[in-house]
Amino acid sequence: MHYPQNNPLPIPAIGEYQKVKGTLESVFDWHYELKRSKLLDLYEKGKANTWNATELAWDTEVDIEKMVSQRQMMGGGTMINQLLAPPRPLDDREALTLNLNMNAFMLSQFLHGEQGALLATAKIVDTVPWAEAKFYAANQVADEARHVEVYHRYLTEKLGVSYEIHPSLGALLGVIMTDSRWDVTYLGMQIMVEGLALAAFGLQKMMMAEEPLIVDITTRIMADESRHVAFGVITLEEVYRDMSASELREREDFVMEATHLMRERLLMQPVFERLGWDPEIWVPWAANTPFMKGFRQMLFSKIVPNLKRLGLLTPRVREMYAGLDLLRFEHMKDSVEDPDMPAPQELVQLLMQFLANRPGEPGVAAK
Ligand SMILES: [Fe+2]
Ligand SMILES: [Fe+2]
Repeated sequence: MHYPQNNPLPIPAIGEYQKVKGTLESVFDWHYELKRSKLLDLYEKGKANTWNATELAWDTEVDIEKMVSQRQMMGGGTMINQLLAPPRPLDDREALTLNLNMNAFMLSQFLHGEQGALLATAKIVDTVPWAEAKFYAANQVADEARHVEVYHRYLTEKLGVSYEIHPSLGALLGVIMTDSRWDVTYLGMQIMVEGLALAAFGLQKMMMAEEPLIVDITTRIMADESRHVAFGVITLEEVYRDMSASELREREDFVMEATHLMRERLLMQPVFERLGWDPEIWVPWAANTPFMKGFRQMLFSKIVPNLKRLGLLTPRVREMYAGLDLLRFEHMKDSVEDPDMPAPQELVQLLMQFLANRPGEPGVAAK
């Protein structure tokens, strides 16, 4: 894996290397019962479906600026102003810059999240008591190393713009890594972070449909991630079934905190700071403009049905999620019923409207 780092990642304020101290309890499983067939099936699938980053067409010319300009020439500039309703009208150049930076910001956070998944899942290999879960987690660790590699290569060799880790994502990864309860690592990583990523990858694929390299990368990674999320659900449903009310309440607290941190990151403050646009104006806009709001809600479309399956869509979580208008996803299929969890129809419509230059109806985002 040799590639030119034309655009090295910016170093966060915390420095090049960050240490977090957890209290990790390594568990050996001398029983080797290997009776959990769903986990073993997943392990077989993981091994059978592996791929190598070298299979990707790295010689593809990636020119997002050209792609967005072409969209603008088709009338997209007006559409952006209508659909996004920015605090002031954006000219084509500004709309282009915003688009490029939002894309780079999202991809950079994917990269950092992938590194988080690599470390968290390595921790799971140690802490989960069952051998069959250790097998699968080991397989996932290899997936995550490849995901880090691919996103890093795309960002540094191809894209030309990148961002450091958002403090909220950093905080969430820190909590996931330092909590001593092994199921909380899963809940944070496999259910929350990877559940959100799975939905975000779906969006990325649709929004960058004309860029074949990122479409190929995303398709491959999504196939892996849907297994990772299923791994979390299959494991945790066995554990949470027998958990006491007070223990479950602590998991609820965690879900609510994680939800808060993930939403913060999605307001994309660093993008506005880099562009020199006043965050006092642009962050509230990102929080409230219907399209962005709808977009953020969609990112929870994979998480909500999985929390429901795990018994974590409790009255307190429901109250929070009702306030965020996220409960409409609760009847979608969870990751065990349908590991691929296709994008919700309303999401497809929202994006089709965006891409097909039909700004008239704000659709679901207006809710
Ligand atoms: Fe991953
Ligand atoms: Fe993953």
